[in-house]
Amino acid sequence: DKKITIAIDGFSSTGKSTVAKQLAKELGYVYVDTGAMYRAVTLYVMRHLFVTETNFDVEAILRHLPFISLKFIFDEKLGYGEIYLNKENVEKEIRLMEVSRNVSRVATISKVREMLVKQQQEMGKNKGVVMDGRDIGTVVFPDADLKLFMTASTQTRAERRYKELCGRGNEVEFNEVLENVKERDYLDSTREDSPLIKAKDAIEIDNSELTLEEQFEKVVKLARDKI
Ligand code: C5P
Repeated sequence: DKKITIAIDGFSSTGKSTVAKQLAKELGYVYVDTGAMYRAVTLYVMRHLFVTETNFDVEAILRHLPFISLKFIFDEKLGYGEIYLNKENVEKEIRLMEVSRNVSRVATISKVREMLVKQQQEMGKNKGVVMDGRDIGTVVFPDADLKLFMTASTQTRAERRYKELCGRGNEVEFNEVLENVKERDYLDSTREDSPLIKAKDAIEIDNSELTLEEQFEKVVKLARDKI
């Protein structure tokens, strides 16, 4: 079998990572969660700077970039890698609402994108990779063998994210989650550098009405057809 590159893009909480992880496991590929990388950079700068919508100092953020080192370390039990920020596992902390509130603003900064895209391209250079994010099929791997674009209704996505956060014991209001999903959709699709758009050759999958099994079957078939 030849190894291929699979790019999965889409709006927030469309279940990209669930599909990507399943697919990577099924094919014995590496899974890369690029959102985790933007979140980890955001977490780092939030620990050093007071970042809010109105207090957003790009120059100060840029000064911190050289001190950020990111790594995915494979976990045998989980079957995929968890993200480490300067040797600290931050997988849980990066999912907190505080980080979600700032990440899409940090992701508008071209220098941040440049740094992360370079690392993503390096991680995927030998193929055999499933990468999910917002710009994988358009910017990171425009020549990816299979591009998926995931969509689902805003309500469905906010409900999923809300359940996920509650399940992890986070105290959040549904409306806060819904507003955050909408805000990130807006910021991600309107930013100047690498906005979230469906690549011309991407296959759109609306999973509002699909069960996880149905969705999985569909994407495995699409992948196998390319291998
Ligand atoms: O995938 P996730 O929702 O965790 O991503 C968090 C945020 O990181 C997104 O809302 C987006 O602003 C940013 N992101 C990005 N490009 C990617 C992946 C994530 O700009 N490839």
